[in-house]
Amino acid sequence: MNKWTSKGESIFFRLPRIGAVLYDKLMHNSPMQLYYKEIAEDLTSRLSAGRLLDVGTGPGRLLQAIHGLNPAIELYGLDISAAMLKQARKNLYGIAVNLRQGNIRHTDFPNDYFDLVACTGSLYLWERPEEGLQEIYRILKSGQSAILFECDRESDRQALQIPLRENLRQVNMLSKIFGPLAIKQALDAAYSRKEISEIIQRTSFAPHFSVAEVTISGLPMWFRIELLKG
Ligand SMILES: C[S@@+](CC[C@H](N)C(=O)[O-])C[C@H]1O[C@@H](n2cnc3c(N)ncnc32)[C@H](O)[C@@H]1O
Repeated sequence: MNKWTSKGESIFFRLPRIGAVLYDKLMHNSPMQLYYKEIAEDLTSRLSAGRLLDVGTGPGRLLQAIHGLNPAIELYGLDISAAMLKQARKNLYGIAVNLRQGNIRHTDFPNDYFDLVACTGSLYLWERPEEGLQEIYRILKSGQSAILFECDRESDRQALQIPLRENLRQVNMLSKIFGPLAIKQALDAAYSRKEISEIIQRTSFAPHFSVAEVTISGLPMWFRIELLKG
């Protein structure tokens, strides 16, 4: 069991405004913009119109990238952190988006509501990941999928060094200093493939899921997890 499972989401729940501002500054650089763009391309290739929910949307940068590629998609964002949502409202100013504060364990969205659910770097923070996934199952339409991107704790850290150095050449001083620390922390706290698969096996997604190792923005450290509501 990783060390954040009991406290990750509660840290974000209490995150002060300055924490959200700093997080956004740390993430707002060209390698991260490429990261959101690559994920947004993946998602918009699957959905031309309809409702998309980004779970743990943080400062809303993925929603922004999705809107840039396809403004016809109806955007929803959920996050446990009021401070993050305030930053998301700022970043998404002028874009029609439904942002809500809440825990993915229990939402007030109707059954069978979303055409696609996305989530990047949030599942590893949930106290009860099975319940979060079960709630995603409830609010997804039948025959539709959730696509999650999570760090792979067992990714080859040596193989990360060269692409990481290349990415760090393109970022501001704040990201140069704290970026490698943030990546190390996220990797240490992440799940392994076996742990992720075991979590999914305990949910209604068990019959139809896949976990693939993928490179995003040059970094080979991600899982792309696809969960189908059959
Ligand atoms: C590391 S940040 C990632 C933010 C964004 N997805 C991104 O890729 O930039 C994780 C986000 O998940 C949110 N979060 C953590 N646990 C959550 C939960 N149980 N329900 C909803 N949001 C949660 C946090 O508040 C935080 O904004």
